[in-house]
Amino acid sequence: MLLYDCGNKEYKNWIICETSFDAQLLGKCESIMALGNGYMGLRSSMEENYTKQTRGLFIAGTFNKFDCYEPSELPNAADVVELEIVLNNEVFSLEKGVIYSYQRSLNLKTGELARHIIWESPSKDKYKLCFKRFVSLDNLHLIGMKVYITPLTGESCIRVTSGINGQMTNSGVQHFHEGEKRIYDQNIMEFIQTTCQSKIDFIFHSGHTWKIDSDKQIPTPRMIISRRKLEMMYDFMIPKGKTLIMEKICTVHTSLDKSYCYKEYSLQDLRDKTLTEFIELNRKGYDLLFNESAKKWKRYWKEVDIKIESKDSFDQLTVRFAQYHLLIMTPAHDSRFGIGAKGLTGEGYKGHTFWDSEIFILPYFTFTNPQIARKLLEYRYHTLNGARKKAIKNGFEGAMYPWESAFTGDEETPEWGAVNILTGEATRILSGLKEQHITCDIAYALWQYYKATQDIDFMKKYGSEILFETASFWAKRVEWDEEKKSYCINDVIGPDEYKEQVNNNAFTNYMAHWNIQTAINHYRECKEKMPQTFKRLNKKLDLERRFKLWNEVVDKIYLPQPRKTDKVIPQDDTYLSKPLIDITKYKNASAMQTILQDYSREQVNNMQVSKQADVVMLLYLLKDKFSKDVKEANWQYYEPKTLHDSSLSLSVHCIVACDINDKNTAYDFFKKAAQIDLGPNMKSSDLGIHAASLGGIWKAIVFGFAGISIEDDKLHINPKIPPLWLKLKLPLKFQGYNMEIEITRDCVQIKNKTKTDYPLEIFIGNDKYLLKEKLRVDLQGVSPQK
Ligand code: BGC
Ligand code: BGC
Repeated sequence: MLLYDCGNKEYKNWIICETSFDAQLLGKCESIMALGNGYMGLRSSMEENYTKQTRGLFIAGTFNKFDCYEPSELPNAADVVELEIVLNNEVFSLEKGVIYSYQRSLNLKTGELARHIIWESPSKDKYKLCFKRFVSLDNLHLIGMKVYITPLTGESCIRVTSGINGQMTNSGVQHFHEGEKRIYDQNIMEFIQTTCQSKIDFIFHSGHTWKIDSDKQIPTPRMIISRRKLEMMYDFMIPKGKTLIMEKICTVHTSLDKSYCYKEYSLQDLRDKTLTEFIELNRKGYDLLFNESAKKWKRYWKEVDIKIESKDSFDQLTVRFAQYHLLIMTPAHDSRFGIGAKGLTGEGYKGHTFWDSEIFILPYFTFTNPQIARKLLEYRYHTLNGARKKAIKNGFEGAMYPWESAFTGDEETPEWGAVNILTGEATRILSGLKEQHITCDIAYALWQYYKATQDIDFMKKYGSEILFETASFWAKRVEWDEEKKSYCINDVIGPDEYKEQVNNNAFTNYMAHWNIQTAINHYRECKEKMPQTFKRLNKKLDLERRFKLWNEVVDKIYLPQPRKTDKVIPQDDTYLSKPLIDITKYKNASAMQTILQDYSREQVNNMQVSKQADVVMLLYLLKDKFSKDVKEANWQYYEPKTLHDSSLSLSVHCIVACDINDKNTAYDFFKKAAQIDLGPNMKSSDLGIHAASLGGIWKAIVFGFAGISIEDDKLHINPKIPPLWLKLKLPLKFQGYNMEIEITRDCVQIKNKTKTDYPLEIFIGNDKYLLKEKLRVDLQGVSPQK
């Protein structure tokens, strides 16, 4: 059972709490309570072992390709969390004995996981146990653990076995060669493992300190070294009422770390430096190290905390939960790495980066921490060569980004997926070949970043090149259709993955058109304002020739228009002619994709049923291209046919519902989006949290309810506060201004925290205002947006 309202005072709306133990349902909390810092992600598995438990430690960027038949994936590194605790000869396990009390909680404010238990063993000895854990935000390589065990009935003989376990796999795939293992001074363990194909060395250090109450102990452990495993076994006699306290400090470094990833790299150097660093950290101990990390969390929250005064205080916790995960999933330390669809919280999607990253997650950073946003976009620059290779391989030019991307930018989408219920065979996954909209999504995201930050340096070094390369791809990708007298884009999958191999997916066509048009505009800007960059890129990409091609193509791209009769934009050439079925059953199901239990993918392909926002997604991304009537008509048409079978769908629907002024429906979608990871479905997050959905929660609040958008380079605010909310206060960075925006039902107040002599033009409703130090606008007086 999960509780979200058990935080008090300074921790009100900061605590996620599990109040009972179920050995069958461990996956959800392992994911939603995961710890991390963008360098690593640690699933919150329990210390003691359970069959249904999935331990996971993922280090950003360290992809390995097990063999030529599998895509690269983020390997599950050695486990340091596992402890075997034997109490008076009985292995501690909550599946046995009696649980008197149980509470596990994640504190989103400090990043600490804690578990408190009172347990009686089968032989009727009672114990109080407490486990604490954090992954440091201060030192990205550090994991800290602390365990308290108090015998409550009588004296107890306690044995704890703790080590580093490199026997972990990704669903059976062992990604590591065994490396050296050793123990220094009967205390510090050192464990090395190397990925079998990408040859990345991982090095772990770990040490224990012991106390009985406040008395330090120096026990002599039994040391065990076995295959891919190192362990220390400690024995104590603990009198009734006394507490045995263990601290375990661990560090992990890899040869991919920026500080070691250089030509003269030697494993010995990595060992020496990381051991010295470890000894220093281990000396500091859990409490001090935890405080250093908590301070960094405090600083983070000071910058990004959104305050929602709602009649349902779960709304406040929802956004904090999202922001907690958005930070720990993001490798802000290294622009060579992207964000995985499950962050660093599980094996799902193999750690790969999708459009989720640019369209759903990036805006959070663009508007709150542009430096991080820039790094995420730089990742797409580092992988540009992979995208170029894909374009050439398929007979195009420019950059054709992989649907799923890992370290190099080569295509990583697996070829085979879930079972076809009719044939019993694995279904062919076509996304890697056909889901091409990722390329314009990346261009869109970088442009939004540029407009929001005016980071010309980024454009000079990376952005312009990506924009030109993506436009060039589309200019070659389009095909002339004599009948339509237009350039078409045939044989694609749009965002709605239930429609495969369709022609003229509206989303793809409009976005590709936008991509080329934006490149044309930027070509002129670049030539005029960034002549050096222009010169360099012209030489490298033959820009003048390409510019001609873009111009020849752009106005002739087929853009499916709203039907005259009902203003519905055809999702693709055939969607509207397909039969309709009653999808109530699937819409009401608590699990996703249940339609695939009744119909094969091929059958679903031939019905008017959508997996996720597609035309509705377009209405959101290119919102100024469509009138209110068209937006309403398409919402009314497509939403009832959409199963929201991807977690990406709900937040987009929330934003568009705000745009068409349906605040109640918008709020319903927001609530549903919040339930994706925090809701009662105990299986849905097993493979990891839903990164895009969490980014979507922030977007729903900022772009939906606060109604923030950029139009013609200007900031627009059109609040659509839901009926249950009294106040929304959010920090926002825009074009160098650092603002705090407070919205109530009748007023918008903006504080400018940046010292500048130039006021910022802001549109509220349809009216223009100038922000100097402060701005207060009564909403009753403003003319509504057209
Ligand atoms: C997703 C695709 C993805 C594939 C393989 C499917 O569930 O819908 O987008 O490419 O899995 O990872
Ligand atoms: C969705 C894609 C998404 C992927 C990864 C799929 O189920 O259809 O849009 O990119 O999951 O989250």
